[in-house]
Amino acid sequence: MFSFKVDNQIGFELLQQQHKEELFKLVDNNREHLRKWLLWVDKRKSAQDFEPIISIWINNYANNNGFDAGIRYNGKLVGMIGLHYIDWKNKATSIGYFLSEEAQGNGIITKSVSSLVNYLFRELDLNRIEIQVAVNNLKSITIPRRLGFVQEGIKRDGQWLYDHYEDLITFSLLKNDWEKSEWINLK
Ligand SMILES: CC(C)(COP(=O)(O)OP(=O)(O)OC[C@H]1O[C@@H](n2cnc3c(N)ncnc32)[C@H](O)[C@@H]1OP(=O)(O)O)[C@@H](O)C(=O)NCCC(=O)NCCS
Repeated sequence: MFSFKVDNQIGFELLQQQHKEELFKLVDNNREHLRKWLLWVDKRKSAQDFEPIISIWINNYANNNGFDAGIRYNGKLVGMIGLHYIDWKNKATSIGYFLSEEAQGNGIITKSVSSLVNYLFRELDLNRIEIQVAVNNLKSITIPRRLGFVQEGIKRDGQWLYDHYEDLITFSLLKNDWEKSEWINLK
C-alpha cells in the first residue's frame, strides 16, 4: 500500500474504501471552508458518496496515472494531496491539495509539496510540475510562490465556482529550476 513520510509529523496514505467515513467527516466538518475553492464539496453528502470517486483514485494509481492521498498530521487525517494525472510522454504532472481549517498555519502543505516535488523529480524522473490556483485564492497562491514555482500565465475563466468563473494562475516548476534552488539543500 502506498504511504509516504514527509517528516516525523506528516505522512501521506493512499485513500481506499475503508477511509470513506473518516474522509467524509473531514469534509463535512469543513464544508464552508472547502467549498469556497472546491466545487465537488457539495456533491459529497454522505460517506457513500465517496465510493465512486475512491474507485477512480485507486484505478488512477493502479494505472500509474497519479494518486490521491490523505495527509496525516500526528496520525490525524487533516487533508488531501495528489497528482491529477501523470503525462509520462512529456514527464509532466499537476499537484492538488487541501487542508482542514484548523490544520492551517503549520506549514503542512508547504512541507508536503516540497517533499513530493523532490520525490517526483528524483524518483519518478519527471521534468515539469504544475500547480493551478484561482487568482483570488491568496492562501493557496502563497504555496507555489514560497517554493520557487514560476508564474506562467492566467487561464481566463478557468474555474467555474457556483455562480461565476475564476481566472486560474498556472505555476510551474522544472527539474532544472529545482536543482538550482536552495530547497534542494533542505532534503
Ligand atoms: C490552500 C491551503 C492548503 C493553505 O493552507 P496553509 O496552512 O495556509 O498552507 P501551509 O500548510 O503551507 O502553511 C502555511 C502557513 O503556515 C505557516 N508556517 C508555519 N510553519 C511553517 C513552515 N515550517 N513552513 C512554511 N510555513 C509555515 C506559514 O507562515 C503560513 O501561515 P500564514 O498563512 O499565516 O502566513 C488551505 O487554505 C486550504 O486547504 N484551502 C481550501 C482548499 C484550497 O484552496 N485548496 C487549494 C486549491 S488550489
